[in-house]
Amino acid sequence: MNHNQLKKIAAEAALKYIPENSVVGVGTGSTVNYFIDALLTIKHKIAGTVASSKVTAVKLKELGFTVIDPNSVDELSIYVDGADEVNNSLQMIKGGGAALTGEKIIAAIAKKFICIADISKKVQILGKFPLPVEVIPIARSYVARTMVKLGGFPVYREGVVTDYGNTILDIWNLEILEPAKLEQTINNIPGVVTNGLFAVKPADILLLGTEDGVVTTIPNPALALLV
Ligand code: A5P
Repeated sequence: MNHNQLKKIAAEAALKYIPENSVVGVGTGSTVNYFIDALLTIKHKIAGTVASSKVTAVKLKELGFTVIDPNSVDELSIYVDGADEVNNSLQMIKGGGAALTGEKIIAAIAKKFICIADISKKVQILGKFPLPVEVIPIARSYVARTMVKLGGFPVYREGVVTDYGNTILDIWNLEILEPAKLEQTINNIPGVVTNGLFAVKPADILLLGTEDGVVTTIPNPALALLV
């Protein structure tokens, strides 16, 4: 199977975790696009969706899904999204598609985060994929200099403006041994909106597309019982 087929089987495996009549948080990216296609088959069974980005909202609306403003939901039972890297603790690097801020907000609202990915995204140590950091434009150079002090090599993602009018710095050269600590450290730099580490609140379930089928990881045994 190629990468796309592995993404597709992981995405389709997420369907069985979607409770009836629930509002579903929908991430962004090529793996999520397969999930949206799968979700279409149970559109009549869900109450609506919350989108993590403008591009996902457009796609969902085009397909006839109800898209609800995140401010109008007090509770989201489930959020399904991809990742650029995921480690054994289900901590992730996300934001390759520049949608990290919306994704982090929806992940925060959701009770359960299901990560769907192909096997190429699985790593032992996060950081080979450059860590995206969303930055308020006037702080770009300051944040870049601060990232150099933290051992990174920042590259400005030219021509990219996020959904919230900000810029992205991609930080290369990081070997992230303490993901939750680094996530908080970077988020404390003035001018940073958020960074692509999802480590303080990792995924709850990982559905990994492999040559042998979908491998499911659910670190919290209490959650495993709910499924
Ligand atoms: C979007 O900003 C990202 O966080 C995506 O979830 C991530 O880049 C995975 O994308 P693919 O599913 O396209 O690999």
